[in-house]
Amino acid sequence: MHNSLLIDKLKGKPTPRPPVWFMRQAGRILPGYRKLKEKYSFHELMSNPDLASQVTLMPVYDLGVDAAILFSDILVVPVALGMEMSFTGSGPVFQKSLAEAEKPSQELKPDASRLEYIYRNIDTIINQKPENIPLIGFCGAPLTTLCYMVQGTGRNPDFPEVVKYLYTNKRDARKLIDAIAGMSAHYARNQIQHGVDVFQLFDTHAGLIPADLYMELFLPAIKKISETVRNTGTPFIFFPKGLGTGIQYITPELTDFVSVDWQMPLRHARGLLPRQIGIQGNIDPRLLYAPQKDIAESLEKLIPFYREHPNLIINLGHGFLPDIPYENARFVTDWVKQVNWSG
Ligand code: CP3
Repeated sequence: MHNSLLIDKLKGKPTPRPPVWFMRQAGRILPGYRKLKEKYSFHELMSNPDLASQVTLMPVYDLGVDAAILFSDILVVPVALGMEMSFTGSGPVFQKSLAEAEKPSQELKPDASRLEYIYRNIDTIINQKPENIPLIGFCGAPLTTLCYMVQGTGRNPDFPEVVKYLYTNKRDARKLIDAIAGMSAHYARNQIQHGVDVFQLFDTHAGLIPADLYMELFLPAIKKISETVRNTGTPFIFFPKGLGTGIQYITPELTDFVSVDWQMPLRHARGLLPRQIGIQGNIDPRLLYAPQKDIAESLEKLIPFYREHPNLIINLGHGFLPDIPYENARFVTDWVKQVNWSG
C-alpha cells in the first residue's frame, strides 16, 4: 500500500509525523453514527455491507484519522463457535453461558460460515475507502473472548467464574483456548485475504490473572494468531490491557507493535519492551472530557518522546467512552497534524 503513514510506521520506514487513529473510533461519539442508530440496531449496522462500510469510513472523514477499523465486534468468534448472542442496550448477552457446563470446551459447535457476512463487508469497504487509508482488521484475544463466553455478559468486569474455571479446570480451559485460537486464526487469515492491511488483537482483560499464568496459558494461542497474520506480511498490533510489567515478556517474534494502556507511562513501557517493537498509545480516553487547552498541554509530552522514539502510533490507552465530546477527538487529530514533530 502506498502513501500510508500507518503502514510506513508499522514497517519501520520514516514518516513526517506519527500516525493517529483511535480504538472504538467507529461508534457512538460520532454524530453521524448516533443518527444511524435511531434507525438501525447495532446488529443491522454490522450485517449490512453498505451500512457497515459507511460507519467504518465515517471517522476517516469526520475525525481525520489515518486508518479505518472494521466496524464489527470481537464477539463474532464465539458465535462462529456455536454460541447464540445478542447486543442489548446494556451490552452483549449470550443465550447460555459456558459457566453452566461441566466441560465448557465440549459445548462448542464450530461453524466458520457464520463469519462469511463480514468478508462481504470488507469487500465493500475496500471498494469504497480512500486509497491511502489502510483498513485495520481485528479479533479478540483468547482470554478476553473466553471471558464473555464463560460469563455470558460483560456485567462483572472481574469475571470471577472465568478465573475460577482457569484454576479448577485447566485441562478443559486449554482445549477451549485452542478452539478460540483456531477460529480466530482462520478469521484473521480470511480478513487479510479480503484486503485488511493491518491486524490488531484486543486483549482488554489481560490484567485479570497473574502475568506468568497469562504467559503459560495464553501466549501459545496468541502466537498462533500472530504467526498466521505475520506470515502474510501483514503488520500486527497487540493490545494486552492491564498486563502491567508483564509486557516485558513480549518479544519481536510475537508482534510488531504493542498498544499500551493508559495505566502505563509511555517511557516505562519503552523501557520494558525490546527496541524493535513499536508503541501505540496511550492517551487516557477520559482526558478528552477536559478543556481543549488542558488536552493540548497533556499531548505536548508526546513531542520529546517521539523525537527520541519515533516508532510511535498515537492512539488511546483504551476505547472512547460514549459520552466523550466528538469535537475533542477531532481536536486531537488536528493537533497531531499541526505539530512540528521533527524539531
Ligand atoms: O471502532 C472500532 O473500534 C471498531 C469496532 C469495534 C467494536 N467493538 C464495535 C462495538 C471493536 C474493535 C470492538 C472491540 C470490542 N468489543 C472489545 C475489545 C476492545 C474494548 O473496547 O475493550 C470488547 C471487550 C467488545 C465487547 C463489547 N461489544 C461490549 C462489552 C459491548 C457493549 C459495551 C460498549 O462498549 O458498547 C459491545 C458493543 C459494541 N461493539 C458497540 C460498538 C460500536 C456498541 C453498540 C451500540 O452502538 O449500541
